[in-house]
Amino acid sequence: MRLLVTGGAGFIGANFVHAVVREHPEATVTVLDALTYAGSAEALDPVADDITLVRGDVSDTELVNALVSESDAVAHFAAETHVDNALADPEPFLRANVIGTFAVLEAVRRHGVRLHHVSTDEVYGDLPLDDGSRFTEATPYNPSSPYSATKAAADMLVRAWVRSYGVRATISNCSNNYGPYQHVEKFIPRQITNVLSGRRPKLYGTGANVRDWIHVDDHNRAVWLILERGTIGRTYLIGANGERDNLSVMRTLLRLMGRDPDDFDHVTDRVGHDLRYAIDPSLLHDELHWAPKHTDFESGLEETIDWYRSNESWWRPLKDGVEANYAERGQ
Ligand code: NAD
Ligand code: DAU
Repeated sequence: MRLLVTGGAGFIGANFVHAVVREHPEATVTVLDALTYAGSAEALDPVADDITLVRGDVSDTELVNALVSESDAVAHFAAETHVDNALADPEPFLRANVIGTFAVLEAVRRHGVRLHHVSTDEVYGDLPLDDGSRFTEATPYNPSSPYSATKAAADMLVRAWVRSYGVRATISNCSNNYGPYQHVEKFIPRQITNVLSGRRPKLYGTGANVRDWIHVDDHNRAVWLILERGTIGRTYLIGANGERDNLSVMRTLLRLMGRDPDDFDHVTDRVGHDLRYAIDPSLLHDELHWAPKHTDFESGLEETIDWYRSNESWWRPLKDGVEANYAERGQ
């Protein structure tokens, strides 16, 4: 299979490329990535001899068309992904997430290429904190932020291209990922690298908000399965029953790093902050027999802490700039 991976130099995309090279040597992998502030060619260093990396924008229709014409399938990860950045400046999110997905759709339509579109549970909005409800494939879209609104728009384009043009596409909406190579602007790596660089961790508001954590490798195994065996036109929700409130995650991280669990700062809350996400992954279990392998969140966090300890040269150059941005926003 000739596989085109958009956004393959980002957190989830790079881990996906590593897994494909490791587990599916029959696949030929080309990565298209703009190498924005969130992309890292270094994240692909371990597989550099096994793949082709093309630096370019996913909204560049000519480039995308040329790359898709030489592919059998596309795994579309490329996006602007950080909610706080979207709140500060939504424009790049419209371009990458909406126009970028449009460019991919037009190219796969023209060349009859299989597409898997990677999306997020944030398109469903949020859930009340304590009622035990979960998102399903039938939950109505109700995005809260410019980020989730652009991801929702992209999902809608994919659905329309399947129905109107017979494009062979699937969609997955996954919950919060953690693991190696996640940018230090995101919650878990931000706190780990704050401790490692002598800063105090930062919790938005009271930390009551709940996220449903999944290891990035479990997400990516689901993406591969859907690409291989998913039903065209179908949406799959990916989650690993990993609900935790932010305060608990913060305290666990501090404990695992040998610190006082209360040694952090409460900072300005995110505007419009989604309360709770939770995924019902039954369809994925029942139809594709997927199940997460990383079921012990605490040992997943320990491995992730170890990874950041051992890979300081990867994250250190990013850290000061990210913290300067946060400081400007009072976060
Ligand atoms: P990331 O921000 O770490 O990486 C995004 C990658 O896309 C980067 O390499 C960046 O350079 C590239 N990119 C951005 N704009 C581009 C453009 N215009 N053209 C080409 N490349 C561009 O993001 P991530 O966390 O790895 O997320 C990957 C995908 O998974 C996204 O579609 C995101 O919405 C989705 N997702 C993420 C999570 C999560 O918890 N991180 C959960 C569910 C779904
Ligand atoms: O649910 C999937 C989504 O998960 C993906 O679609 C997004 O791309 C990804 O960024 C993530 O979105 P969140 O907004 O949930 O992730 P983030 O890491 O930014 O924040 C997780 C929670 O932690 C959220 O409730 C905000 C809070 N937070 C975040 C940061 C950066 C803090 O309390 N302190 C922080 O410093």
